[in-house]
Amino acid sequence: MGYAEVYGAWQNDPEGFWMDQAKSIDWVTPPTKALDDSKAPLYRWFADAEVNTCYNAVDRHVENGRGEQLAIIYDSPVTHTKHTITYAELQTRVASLAGALRAKGIEKGDRVIIYMPMIPEALEAMLACARLGAIHSVVFGGFAANELAVRIDDATPKAIIAGSCGIEPGRVVHYKPLLDGAIELAKHKPDFCVIFQREQEVAALIEGRDYDWHGFQAGVELAECVPVKGDHPAYILYTSGTTGAPKGVVRPTAGHLVALNWTMKAIYDVDPGDVFWAASDVGWVVGHSYICYAPLIHGNTTVVFEGKPVGTPDAGTFWRVIEEYNVKSFFTAPTAFRAIKREDPKGEMIKNYDISGLRALYLAGERADPDTIEWAQRIMGVPVYDHWWQTETGYTIAGNPAGIEALPVKIGSPTVAMPGYDVQILDEAGHQMKPGELGAIAVKLPLPPGTLPTLWNAEDRFVKSYLTTFPGYYETGDAGMIDEDGYLYIMARTDDVINVAGHRLSTGAMEEVLAGHPDVGECAVIGVTDELKGQLPMGFVCLNKGCETTPEQIAKDCIKRVRDTIGPVAAFKLVAVVDRLPKTRSGKILRATMVKIADGQDFKMPATIDDPAILDEIKEALKPLGYAQC
Ligand code: COA
Ligand code: AMP
Repeated sequence: MGYAEVYGAWQNDPEGFWMDQAKSIDWVTPPTKALDDSKAPLYRWFADAEVNTCYNAVDRHVENGRGEQLAIIYDSPVTHTKHTITYAELQTRVASLAGALRAKGIEKGDRVIIYMPMIPEALEAMLACARLGAIHSVVFGGFAANELAVRIDDATPKAIIAGSCGIEPGRVVHYKPLLDGAIELAKHKPDFCVIFQREQEVAALIEGRDYDWHGFQAGVELAECVPVKGDHPAYILYTSGTTGAPKGVVRPTAGHLVALNWTMKAIYDVDPGDVFWAASDVGWVVGHSYICYAPLIHGNTTVVFEGKPVGTPDAGTFWRVIEEYNVKSFFTAPTAFRAIKREDPKGEMIKNYDISGLRALYLAGERADPDTIEWAQRIMGVPVYDHWWQTETGYTIAGNPAGIEALPVKIGSPTVAMPGYDVQILDEAGHQMKPGELGAIAVKLPLPPGTLPTLWNAEDRFVKSYLTTFPGYYETGDAGMIDEDGYLYIMARTDDVINVAGHRLSTGAMEEVLAGHPDVGECAVIGVTDELKGQLPMGFVCLNKGCETTPEQIAKDCIKRVRDTIGPVAAFKLVAVVDRLPKTRSGKILRATMVKIADGQDFKMPATIDDPAILDEIKEALKPLGYAQC
């Protein structure tokens, strides 16, 4: 069957399609039906089943003869370390950690926050939670203490598992002080913390609250897998929305298992035993789905890479890893390739490696620009597949189903909707638009298994954010079009979310931080185009009357404030101090126009602008920052 037949089979009988896919999962109690629509527009999948994610990702492979196969390859150029873990070893390690967590009171439904760098123990912590039916929430290491505190207060974890430090090129990220600071800031306090001490920094433990990862496991009984209901939350992953309060995306257990397992062959075209590598971070959805869960559920070997595409030690690192471990399918963000291309434009370094075992490159997380795709195609000599998805969905909405049928690549398009997704382009009134017309991208409900059923502790926000603008649809927050061949094009966000080096960030959250500066009267943050990172945040601040601090100092303060409150990952380094902001007569800040000015693009004078002269002031203020050049 080709793509059209598979997509058609799903359209004709979605229930049958997903029940069929469910056969690849080992259930404690198999589902009697796939979809429960009794509470539409809130949907549940495989709700009456009982299952355990860790059993499917680890134990079943040991029982089925894959015990000696590598489950995890850890490659860390930043610490000059490499080691491997077989499925049998992983089973013991995870069961031991789960046993220790259980001995300290962690049970089904309890939340556990994981704050760890790219080390195998991060995956083990996730799997240990899954083993017990505990709900993990991984927090990316590049966030500051305040962001961690916000997540602690929302998820109210019983425990936090953290690494003592992370390693960024040229600096050690001191996780433990960040963790202590976050616990201090948060209203909710965890019962205990487990600290994985790294050689690069041994953290001081707080007596009675903190336990050492190894000591804590000494003498405990190995924990068995605890069955959970199909719609039990597997994890919560916070992502940026319009405001400073992140959205806690809930991932349901059974749908997650079924859908991710399906994607490994259908999209990534790997068979059990093949090596699969996603160069991302466990703190992002790509890391959850494609460093940890999907490859393990499917019986692949996953690579945990602690390094960067360049500088660790050079722009040949990716090629080395692909050669050394015979990676078959490779997934990363376009920004990583832009970084390599900048260092090694002619692709000289790839010639030192044999990457003939690689079948294809997959890109996602941000718009893949044609230059980067063409460059990657040329130097790697393999198909380059862009695919589009979101934290909310957990896997591909539109992609090239290479394991079913490799469709022709149209550069600029992530290809076509995957089975499960009825993707439509809607106008403001919710009417379907014609091929080639630009509109809001929406997905007809129900979303397929594994996608978010709700937001943690925030069902109203879930309904308001995603299900209200277009009744009967999920609003993706992206705008784009579908061409005559059914190929989708993602053009822009319809909200205040920006994408910096494949990281999703909220300009609203940054504005909240700037507004807290005592000298700042008014502010706006926009996303401007950046050659390497796709977008960069840029702040505009207007100072209170009588402010005596210099604009230079204000800019420095603002940069520090965002770094300290949100974290280095915000990459907030551009600030313009201006007298006033361009607004409509009703007082709405003209952010889209400011973006065009900063990017040096032509723009139409907004008909509702209050005072057009302000635009010239903005332009002048941007020139010293190297922007607004025509
Ligand atoms: N812990 C602590 N700090 C982190 C971090 C982590 N896990 N990850 C990033 N940071 C810091 C960086 O050190 C940097 O700090 P600095 O301002 O002191 O230099 C800051 O956050 C911004 O990081 P980033 O945007 O990643 O920029 P970079 O210059 O360090 O690297 C790339 C640029 C392109 C090499 C890098 O972003 C990359 O490899 N991205 C592609 C892959 C990817 O992870 N995509 C995510 C979704 S798939
Ligand atoms: P995240 O939730 O962090 O994965 O970010 C999801 C958002 O990133 C999407 O809503 C898009 O705006 C953007 N995005 C992800 N993948 C792509 C892609 N292939 N092309 C264009 N934009 C993408």
